[in-house]
Amino acid sequence: MSVTSREVVREAARRRTFAVISHPDAGKSTLTEALALHARVIGQAGAVHGKGERRGTVSDWMAMERDRGISITSAALQFAYRDVVVNLLDTPGHADFSEDTYRVLTAVDCAVMLLDAAKGLEPQTLKLFEVCRQRQIPVITFINKWDRPGQDALALLDEIESRIQLTPTPLNWPVGVAGHFHGLVDRDTGGMIRFERAPGGAGIAIEEHLDTAEAARRYGGDWSGAIEELELLTLSGAEHDEESFQAARSTPVLFGAAVTNIGVRQLLDVLVELAPAPAARPTTDGGSRPLDSEFSGFVFKIQANMDPSHRDQVAFVRVCSGRFTRGMIVTHGTTGRPFTTKYAQQIFGRDRDTLDEAYPGDVIGLVNATALGIGDTLHTGPKVRFPALPAFPPEHFAVVRAVDSSTFKRFRRGIEQLDAEGVVQVLRSELRGEQAPVLAAVGTMQFEVATHRLAAEFGVRTTLDRLPYEFAVRTTLDGRDALQSEAGVEVLRRTQDDALLALFPNPYRLRSVAARHPGVPLEPLTGNS
Ligand code: G4P
Repeated sequence: MSVTSREVVREAARRRTFAVISHPDAGKSTLTEALALHARVIGQAGAVHGKGERRGTVSDWMAMERDRGISITSAALQFAYRDVVVNLLDTPGHADFSEDTYRVLTAVDCAVMLLDAAKGLEPQTLKLFEVCRQRQIPVITFINKWDRPGQDALALLDEIESRIQLTPTPLNWPVGVAGHFHGLVDRDTGGMIRFERAPGGAGIAIEEHLDTAEAARRYGGDWSGAIEELELLTLSGAEHDEESFQAARSTPVLFGAAVTNIGVRQLLDVLVELAPAPAARPTTDGGSRPLDSEFSGFVFKIQANMDPSHRDQVAFVRVCSGRFTRGMIVTHGTTGRPFTTKYAQQIFGRDRDTLDEAYPGDVIGLVNATALGIGDTLHTGPKVRFPALPAFPPEHFAVVRAVDSSTFKRFRRGIEQLDAEGVVQVLRSELRGEQAPVLAAVGTMQFEVATHRLAAEFGVRTTLDRLPYEFAVRTTLDGRDALQSEAGVEVLRRTQDDALLALFPNPYRLRSVAARHPGVPLEPLTGNS
């Protein structure tokens, strides 16, 4: 093995690249900040969005973002903890939930599922978890807000097991119920960790380690209750098993409170000790790209007009193999053309820092990379192609039209551009015609971004009419003919991959139509189709 190979393998082994999957308000921003507090921040890329006093960290790349005080863009926060480099990729939530949110999960090696102890599994978490399941991404669970009243710990584990069929394997266990919480049993040592709250969550929680005798003396019934529950869990086989975790069949569970930094160090330790490092990425030829082969990466996100005064476009690339150095001339897999990376940067909201080198697991922001599209491969040396990124199931549909027909040419170009960037999915049918494409989105914010960009970049004013569908399934040409007689159902072609999608107002309508047309293929869309 050459010196560079050894270095790449060593650097890759010390990378942990993950995203937090959660429902709005579970505490993702708070947890992100708490993680950064425990670690040495190397770079952040507009990952933290916030409310209230955290508004100061909001990135305001677009006017719309500024108005709403949220971040539309998913990017990466990089920090060092122990001897590991952690890349935390943002999964935008709230109103900015979009296809980008799902796509981020194609660029991570692991996910942290963040649950609010009072609410358990919530809809957005379930949607994101479904993508993790399809991609077999290992999931660590962090049950947050244990400092205030919530559900019973065993009930939360039950919910995980029964609703998403993931075996929960707690690594620590709360002493005292949610809201009346004394600390955590450390399953490794059998002792207890108490936390001295840092005022206002501003500092790292101070830990006190108690042996079992001291814990029993201080916390009597609550301590013995926790131990009994743990014994029950041990009997039921809820022990961490690295193989089933890596195969995404079990999930290590941690309890804590991000707002007071409780359990956050434990989460970082678990990421370092148990979460997978980057591995060889599968390629389209059925093989995989070894980590120490020449540089390769793929574009998982494109953000245009981050700086309106420059009209630029940044492509975010996840490094898959080799060592990336700034200025490197790489090959753009789609066109076979050389691409220079002089403007490789780590994007920090509005600030940008020049990035000099990166290793597998890291994220590079390529500025002015207008030739690059979502899912494109970049590499040096012999050709390599990674599979295209999947299109995710849209749930919102709208017809878009140019207000002024004289702007139609620009309108068409704009729609093509938004389609290529993966801002929205574009669906067409002969019935609707060229002038009235249907936009399909995972989140409604994508429509706003699309119309805003059509106006700002292409000078086209548009109207947008929402359609009464919220569900799409894949069908065939024969299926299309058969479905034509069904009221309230429409079949369109997705331009991106030529898939024929049948749109339904709801799953009940789908079921009744499916019952009437048993021979018609109506396949659910998944994160892999
Ligand atoms: P999000 O990014 O997932 O949407 O959640 P965010 O971190 O913004 O947190 C949502 C709310 O939950 C915030 O309160 C935050 O302070 C609170 N929170 C987060 N972690 C914990 C925790 O461990 N314990 C408790 N008790 N609360 C927690 P807010 O009132 O909406 O905002 P703020 O005024 O506190 O910023």
